[in-house]
Amino acid sequence: MELPVDKIPKHVAVVMDGNGRWAKNRYMPRFFGHKAGVDALIRAIDLFADRGVQHLTVFAFSSENWKRPADEVSGLFGLVMVAAAKYLESMVSKGVRIRIIGNREGVSEKLRAAWTQAEEATAHNQRITVSVAFNFGGRWDVVQACRRAMASGMPPDEMTEEAFARLLVLSDVPDPDLFIRTGGEMRLSNFLLWQAAYAEMYFTDCLWPDFGAAEIDAALASFASRDRRFGGAESWASGSDASG
Ligand code: IPE
Ligand code: IPE
Ligand code: MG
Repeated sequence: MELPVDKIPKHVAVVMDGNGRWAKNRYMPRFFGHKAGVDALIRAIDLFADRGVQHLTVFAFSSENWKRPADEVSGLFGLVMVAAAKYLESMVSKGVRIRIIGNREGVSEKLRAAWTQAEEATAHNQRITVSVAFNFGGRWDVVQACRRAMASGMPPDEMTEEAFARLLVLSDVPDPDLFIRTGGEMRLSNFLLWQAAYAEMYFTDCLWPDFGAAEIDAALASFASRDRRFGGAESWASGSDASG
């Protein structure tokens, strides 16, 4: 199914949820689900890029995920190291630019070095930019922006929505058009609070490791059928028939 280019979201944000339940359904430990989740992400990057999505931002570890058992947290951190080593070369050759967004304090020197290496090795790639939100929270992002504004001595009247947006981590990326959450929960879980102000929301019961081409096409078709009004009046051109 081909969608018109202007109906393809430029930026898709994804809460990759459901790894634990996917593993549980197979009587396997949660880590097995996280491993399958990394493979699903690698496949999804290609699929979104092939469909013309320019920016993909994925939630990999939230500020709140520290509440998980220590072995799950260290398993997830280890997985990032392994994935960086295993997939970096293919990301470079496939034209994928990788960026890590999130609080770099509290993660090990080794992990930070792996991130910097991934960012530098893919810095000139242009097919799709993937921002991996790791140790990220929407509230953390807002607070770090405030701190930077205050530290710069910015006068209060210079603070506008545009100025504030420039201080957030995704300042150089357009706001997400489509916000997908897999795994059946219908909540933001502190992901892109500011940036998702006008994103179209798409929730699916599909567990993240199973989120493949058919599910991506279903999400994009749903997005293409929406009438985005941004607070304006209903656009009569697209009509009330959302199936069009
Ligand atoms: C999402 O899957 C991955 C991370 C939060 C790291 P979960 O681990 O939350 O999986 P469920 O929600 O327990 O199934
Ligand atoms: C959100 O999923 C975070 C990530 C996918 C990284 P969670 O599984 O942590 O969210 P809650 O706890 O169900 O809200
Ligand atoms: Mg979850």
